[in-house]
Amino acid sequence: MITVRTAADLRARIHEWRARENRIACVPTMGNLHAGHLRLVRHARAIADRVVASIFVNPMQFGPGEDFTSYPRTLEADRAALMEADADLLFIPDVEVVYPRDLDQMTRVEVPALGDILCGASRPGHFAGVTTVVAKLFNLVQPDVAVFGEKDYQQLVIIRRMVEDLNVAVSIEGIATVRDPDGLAMSSRNRYLDPGERAIAPCLYRVLGEVRDRIDAGERDYGAVERAAIAALTRAGFEPDYVSIRRAADLVPPTSADQALRVLAAARLGTTRLIDNIEISVS
Ligand code: PAF
Repeated sequence: MITVRTAADLRARIHEWRARENRIACVPTMGNLHAGHLRLVRHARAIADRVVASIFVNPMQFGPGEDFTSYPRTLEADRAALMEADADLLFIPDVEVVYPRDLDQMTRVEVPALGDILCGASRPGHFAGVTTVVAKLFNLVQPDVAVFGEKDYQQLVIIRRMVEDLNVAVSIEGIATVRDPDGLAMSSRNRYLDPGERAIAPCLYRVLGEVRDRIDAGERDYGAVERAAIAALTRAGFEPDYVSIRRAADLVPPTSADQALRVLAAARLGTTRLIDNIEISVS
């Protein structure tokens, strides 16, 4: 695996691979890699000739007071894990490579509406930061395919929308969330949880499962189901941000005709904000 830090070096390598007609897959990350990320890399390995992973803790997607400075940075362990997962190239740009100007002077890529709801409502500007950095990575890597986790389901839907709206020639693959044995979705932010919070955290997934059970049992008053889920999370010790049942494809509130749904939730445990989501099929 080669490690590349500049756009020029990255482009040179991509140019070589393109000349050989290699199929290139890209796995953007912010590092602190866990089994969920490595599943993305292994999937990329299985479907492409060349796998490019990136590690960049993207300042543009963090709001004031969020965890940009404390976000875990574990480059040597990440590099070893990526070698083990057989990535071909690791791109680790410095912030000046990605943002040569002050952040507020940089061109942005923004998906309206979809970027302002759910997590976007409590993290203004977050998704514009994500789509801007992902668009830049797509321009640099020119991948045939890019792989993202379903844990950040809203992010996945927004990236698909950006690619469609901007006619980017990349296919986006979403990979199922990897969970700890007790159900907690793997996340770099789980390491912020103290032992008491860690014991409560799997309740988020259990509550999502209860939402699915109620809908499977025929409940169609989605508002009532969401309110019950929020109450259950509060009783468990969370400060819920939202629990929301949406149409899976575009995250609008579902109508009675919609069959492919997603229930998404965000809730704070102490100072840690956890998110999770599951699929629901209505027949
Ligand atoms: O999901 C993440 O880790 C980030 O949001 C991403 C897609 C790498 C963009 O910084």
